[in-house]
This record gives sequence, C-alpha cells and structure tokens, in this order.
Amino acid sequence: MGDAVSPSLVEDDIHIWTWRLDSEFLSACGDWLTAEERDRCAELPEPHAQIRFAAGRSGLRFLLARYLGGEPSDVILKEDRFGKPCLGLDASLAFNLSHAGDIAAVALCRGGEVGIDIEVETAGHIELRGILSAEEKRQLHLLGLPLDRSVLLQIWVWKEAVLKASGLGLSVDPAKVVLTFERQGRRLVARNGTVPGFGSYELRSFVPVPGFVGAVAVTREGLRMLSFSLCREHLNEACRMWSDLGRSKAS
Ligand SMILES: CC(C)(COP(=O)(O)OP(=O)(O)OC[C@H]1O[C@@H](n2cnc3c(N)ncnc32)[C@H](O)[C@@H]1OP(=O)(O)O)[C@@H](O)C(=O)NCCC(=O)NCCS
Repeated sequence: MGDAVSPSLVEDDIHIWTWRLDSEFLSACGDWLTAEERDRCAELPEPHAQIRFAAGRSGLRFLLARYLGGEPSDVILKEDRFGKPCLGLDASLAFNLSHAGDIAAVALCRGGEVGIDIEVETAGHIELRGILSAEEKRQLHLLGLPLDRSVLLQIWVWKEAVLKASGLGLSVDPAKVVLTFERQGRRLVARNGTVPGFGSYELRSFVPVPGFVGAVAVTREGLRMLSFSLCREHLNEACRMWSDLGRSKAS
C-alpha cells in the first residue's frame, strides 16, 4: 500500500495519522501555510497556540499533498457552511483533523464523509453533564455498566466525531446525537451514531497515543482502519524528493 511518504489509500480503508504539535515538528516543515492561515496563526494569543496551529495545518497540508500529489503549499483548502475544511479540487478524498494537548490526528478516506475527535484522557475542560439523550440513557440502563467520567469522555469523543463527520460541529447539541451502544465484557462500545434528520455514521475507537482517546465516524460501512505516525523523518525525506523534482524540472 505505498510507503509512508507516498501512501496509497484504497476505497475500503481509513487512514489515521498522528503527530506531535511541537516546534521540532514545525521546524522540519516548509513554508507551506497560505497568507490567510498565517494571519489566523498570528491572531492566536500565545506562542504555544501558534505553534500548535501551524504544526497542525502544516502536517495536514503535508499529508494531503502526499495523497494527492504536488506540494503542501499547493493544496487548495476551502471551508463548508459550518467551517469544516475540505478540498477545493479533489472532492473524492475526505479528511478531518483533530487536536488535543500537543497531539494532532487526521483521518482520511475515499468516497464518504469522515470526522475525527481526540481528547486527553484527563481533559477537565469538557462539560460532560447533559450529553446523553433519553434513548441513550435507556440503553445504558439496560446494559448495566457504570457511567464514570472516563466512559462519559469516550461517549463525548464518539459524539464529536459524528458531529464533525456531518460538518455541523458543535453548532448542534451533542445530546441530539443518538449512539447505539453494545457491551463487550466490561467495556462499552458504540457501533454507530445518528444525527436525527441528517445522517448515520459508523464509529471506530482508537488510541492516538497513550493517555488519549480517539474516535472516527464515517458514512461508509465496514472500512478497515490503518494507523500511522507522522515524524520529522517523513517530512525530511519528502522535502528532499520535492527539491530533487524542482531541480530536474529546472534542468
Ligand atoms: C469543529 C469543532 C467541533 C472543533 O472543536 P475543537 O474542540 O477545536 O476540536 P478539534 O481539535 O477536534 O477540531 C478542530 C479542527 O476541526 C476542523 N473543523 C472546523 N470546523 C469543523 C466542522 N464544522 N466540522 C468538522 N470539522 C471542523 C478544523 O480542521 C479544525 O482545526 P483547524 O482549525 O486547526 O484547521 C468546533 O470548532 C465547531 O463546532 N465549529 C463549528 C461550529 C459553528 O457553528 N461554526 C460557525 C460557522 S463557521
């Protein structure tokens, strides 16, 4: 299936890439952001937030360029009605980005919509009370599993992945998303989630890195999920390739 620098994504797969949002990663990236992205970055109040945004967008542009061909700075991104970034030209490649702490994750697939959410396991900033619908409360009562904060955080991540796949984001109350749960031993699993009147999504859970929880929602069923880490070496290798290509075009 290609290699880490030129991956090939077949119709039946979802690819998940994770990387660190730090200055080391950013220093291996080229000058890939658009003027608009650079302005947005400059408006962020703290240097740390600026590094996170720039390393997130640069990693995203790098990956999209590897799947589409061409250079990261040439990728044309636009935003839909609720701000979900999508491709200006190749609409068949769907992607979504999430960041939490100093980690970013991108999910990519073909021929459907995708949403991803990651959170730090200890995330204290999320208000988890009131995220369950009446139907979910009924299901959870029947399954008889304890509903502690870590289970509620996992439910949050499933719901946000569904809302991000739909593109609605948090413009819709997460309590309006209805998940279908099942019990696997002592574990709670959600197989799909529905935004009533909008769409239904298959759900997957994954661990981006230890100490984090993650979920992906997709419109297509039965896809195989493959996970990869993006590191400086991938960037260096690809940058060398771009500069060789530039030289051969010029000669
Ligand atoms: C999308 C949203 C849930 C992200 O929240 P968050 O806690 O920052 O979560 P994440 O880190 O998981 O996701 C951020 C990324 O999701 C993507 N994103 C932005 N809006 C999105 C949307 N509506 N749907 C899906 N993905 C979206 C972006 O790539 C963003 O990262 P970037 O800004 O660095 O490119 C939240 O910002 C939201 O609900 N936005 C839209 C709501 C709205 O009403 N917008 C008004 C019109 S623009």
